[in-house]
Amino acid sequence: MSIEVVRPARTLQGSLTVPGDKSISHRYAMLAGLAEGTTRLSNFSTGADPASSLACMEALGASVKTIGEGPARIIEISGTSGNFVEPEQPLDCGNSGSTMRMLSGLIAPHPHTFTLIGDHSLTLRPMERIRKPLSQMGARMDLIDGHAPITIYGTPLHAIDFDTPIPSAQVKTAVLFAGLQATGTTSLSESVRTRDHSEHALRAFGATLTRTSAGGVGSIARLSIPGGQKLKAIDATVPGDISSAAFFLCAALLFPDSNLVLDSLGMNPTRTALLDVLGLLGAKFKVLNVEEAHGEMIGTIQVNVAPGGLKGVDITGALSAMLIDELPVLAAIAPYTRDGIRIRDAKELRVKESDRIALVAKNLTAMGATFTEYEDGLDIPGNQQLHGAQIDSGTDHRIAMAFAIAALRATGETEIHGAEAAAISFPEFFTNLRELCPQ
Ligand code: S3P
Repeated sequence: MSIEVVRPARTLQGSLTVPGDKSISHRYAMLAGLAEGTTRLSNFSTGADPASSLACMEALGASVKTIGEGPARIIEISGTSGNFVEPEQPLDCGNSGSTMRMLSGLIAPHPHTFTLIGDHSLTLRPMERIRKPLSQMGARMDLIDGHAPITIYGTPLHAIDFDTPIPSAQVKTAVLFAGLQATGTTSLSESVRTRDHSEHALRAFGATLTRTSAGGVGSIARLSIPGGQKLKAIDATVPGDISSAAFFLCAALLFPDSNLVLDSLGMNPTRTALLDVLGLLGAKFKVLNVEEAHGEMIGTIQVNVAPGGLKGVDITGALSAMLIDELPVLAAIAPYTRDGIRIRDAKELRVKESDRIALVAKNLTAMGATFTEYEDGLDIPGNQQLHGAQIDSGTDHRIAMAFAIAALRATGETEIHGAEAAAISFPEFFTNLRELCPQ
């Protein structure tokens, strides 16, 4: 386990290109593996999680090549034209819930037996949520008490109409990926509009699907996907991951004279609730340019903080679901706001890579903060001065990074134990932190 020491900083200055979006990288990797032809992806996430998806696609018969390095790195995936092979080994999803859940939908209709395994954290995460719709479609799968390892006995699937009981883009994606290959037209509704990268990615790879709802972000919609569709390879650039950028966005808000420019940032409206909440807290954004590629918005933004510092904000209801990955870092900066941050309706945080409510509480306590913990959230008053402490990442990437940000405004040194977890989504995080925040 590695330790990173983070010292108090005085400012954050500079520009940054964050790694390619983790969610989009998974989806492009999986659809490329199923498609006919060779997909070329620039700015594919450098994180360990999307690498797990690539390794699974290789095990399923796709060929994966990495060409070049750094910003010039390209991942080339030659697909299986719709015919996965039976893997010789279990499909190792590592720490990645996205890989395990979405891949289950993708492979369930293929005529082989598959075993999906993961690390200790992944083995603790709920998988019943995908078994339910997939088995309604005819999938045959065994779980152990609702958890991995998962064994799938591939068999043809049929369409269903499904109402997603919990807002989860991973569950939605598992159903869409299975529906793409089923007989009939699968439809599903979501009461909270979760990230829609799968919808855009499916269309980019040539699939047809429709969304019926007049409403915008946050409204109830029904998605329909006809089965028996074939995919064609694409050339694409993965937009920067706004959930990784969140750490630096929050860090920038901690210092009155910060100035941060984020290039090539994914600005899909189902992911930008963070910018709205940071705006409520007191962030000032300048959008320097925005363009669209394969349905995804990519832009350059400049951020600093309004005079008077950070106010406070309440995050509840659908907003909690839309900000689920950003809640740990928002909680970590909450003590430095004036009015505090209240997070409720976020019970899902307890079943992420760790119990993120419990770990945020443990680490806030270590840094001397006072707050109230609820089953579904945290109420963290503002105007608190934290002190350096020993942080337990719990091997959770977002906890390691969130508390590195809290450490920037604490008194004294902070040690992040289990800092290597950052590499799950953002291997360059601690290097970027030292570059942008001289300590
Ligand atoms: C993801 C969806 C979210 C999110 C995860 C990535 C995705 O999970 O927390 O980091 O790529 O679809 P849920 O679908 O479990 O909410």
